[in-house]
Amino acid sequence: MLVENSKPVLGVESSCDETGVALYQPGRGLLAHALYSQVALHAEYGGVVPELASRDHVRKLMPLVHQVLDEAGLTAADLGGVAYTAGPGLVGALLVGASAARAMAWALEVPAIGVHHMEGHLLAPLLEENAPEPPFVALLVSGGHSMLVAVEAIGRYRILGDTLDDAAGEAFDKTAKLMGLPYPGGPALARLAGEGREGMFRFPRPMTDRPGLDMSFSGLKTQVLLAWQGSDQSDQTRADIARAFQEAIVETLVIKCRRALAEAGAKRLVIAGGVGANRLLRAQLAEAGEKEGFRTYFPRLEFCTDNGAMIALAGAIRLAAGQQQGPSIEVRPRWSLEALPAA
Ligand code: KG4
Ligand code: ZN
Repeated sequence: MLVENSKPVLGVESSCDETGVALYQPGRGLLAHALYSQVALHAEYGGVVPELASRDHVRKLMPLVHQVLDEAGLTAADLGGVAYTAGPGLVGALLVGASAARAMAWALEVPAIGVHHMEGHLLAPLLEENAPEPPFVALLVSGGHSMLVAVEAIGRYRILGDTLDDAAGEAFDKTAKLMGLPYPGGPALARLAGEGREGMFRFPRPMTDRPGLDMSFSGLKTQVLLAWQGSDQSDQTRADIARAFQEAIVETLVIKCRRALAEAGAKRLVIAGGVGANRLLRAQLAEAGEKEGFRTYFPRLEFCTDNGAMIALAGAIRLAAGQQQGPSIEVRPRWSLEALPAA
């Protein structure tokens, strides 16, 4: 699959509010990576403003490219290919990364490859020492997606379950917002949950009382709203609700993962995407795995959320398989994982 000692691949991520750039070399691994988060830029609006995101990617992208090349002691002439996130994501933000990456590849006369953002997340555990071998099941939980995917081989994905409404990360963010926490609320809500008392609130585990692998988190958010509005709205109550909310989401995800492993007949579970950084989720899945005999694989925390390293890795794998993009600049704001070719 990966060609030993082939040249470094530059990876560019710009699908949302993080500019990520990295260098990955098959046979050597990750050479350098850098990330610029736009969180402060969007905070005053309470969410990502697409036009501001695009403009900020324009400002940050090339300085980050120079930074990772310097860190790795390389020049652009050393590159063997350029990978960029081609979708799904915000169209303007995607176009910034795609245009810059495509132009660099053109100028350097190396191949370019458009990477599926969720495939990047899904393959992020391959950046770690004990990388999982397919077949495995992947739980992809981010701000835009909540999916269970059967990975038969790299590039051969079958979606076992999906969210019918809000993604898990989106549910964290919206719930945080309705209790007055600043954007981006997910990580803050998870921190606050640590101060909550046990058993003060209990929320439903949506769609676990019937078979199936689809998920739905928007009702949970409404339950939280009702609980919050009917409460004294003190700091302690906010933490108590945060704790009960986190327990409900995490338990739901654990139940769905168990079912997905059984359905796919798999013994390996990969967890990826921003919500994969959630400590309770990591602990409970690891514990379930020990009890029930499946192995869990997590990317390190910084590679759960958006980053350039996962795009460089996924791009390197596809370039090594002989795939590349033509000279036109194309992005896909919506794009199914199942539409990808095998790598
Ligand atoms: O993968 P990601 O960086 O971006 C997308 O592709 O969406 O995921 C971001 C999402 C946000 O919704 C954020 O609130 C959530 O991941 N997130 C967390 C945690 N860290 C990030 N949710 C729960 N607990 C966390 N520790
Ligand atoms: Zn993401």
